[in-house]
Amino acid sequence: MRIDILSVVPELLTSPFSHSILKRAIAANLVEVHVHNIRDWSVNKHKTVDDYPYGGGAGMVMMVEPIVACIEDLSSQRKYDEIIYMSPDGELFDQPIANRLSMQKNIMILCGHYKGVDERVREKFITREISIGNYVLSGGELAAAVVADSIIRLLPGVLNDETSALSDSFQDNLLAPPVYTRPAEFRGMKVPDVLLSGHAAEIDKWRHDQSVKRTQERRPELLKNE
Ligand code: ADE
Repeated sequence: MRIDILSVVPELLTSPFSHSILKRAIAANLVEVHVHNIRDWSVNKHKTVDDYPYGGGAGMVMMVEPIVACIEDLSSQRKYDEIIYMSPDGELFDQPIANRLSMQKNIMILCGHYKGVDERVREKFITREISIGNYVLSGGELAAAVVADSIIRLLPGVLNDETSALSDSFQDNLLAPPVYTRPAEFRGMKVPDVLLSGHAAEIDKWRHDQSVKRTQERRPELLKNE
């Protein structure tokens, strides 16, 4: 899979892909992540990427020309399955969307900044808009990193134990059960006996029961969606 991320602040996207699981996935060629500076497609001598909004008002708007030049340049090199715009107006991101996106070959993600992008980009070039929650970030970069992370960890071979993404919270509309590691007792707090018992079937049942209990207590609406 290949993910291209378009931004006017590409520096914001360096760290998320430089450590841990995502770094290893890129090094192992399980995914390619390319971050592009939209400024590189600006044609004027000041390399401008934003301008005042027509009709007035506060804030700047990301200009249509550099963004479209960048999208068309990349699209001439390969076909993109989705061209996503990160925006608080988009559909609310969740695990099923991550699952579906992880099955695509090439996706492009456009990060908004300032007051957002010229509406003509959204009308003609964007295939889907995604929000990571009902709050406003300073730009789409952190949101794009969230989406990319959730997709990449689903790709075959990225997690050591291939089943571990399947046991994540939300994969079956259930939150994950509690987990423990050594020591077996800490300040009088004991790890549940069943986890030390070695009975695989009982452990599976305990984990499932705990998942259901936790979901009922914390996110009952997930159970109603089944
Ligand atoms: N850009 C700004 N806020 C955002 C959000 N909540 N989700 C996605 N992109 C954003």
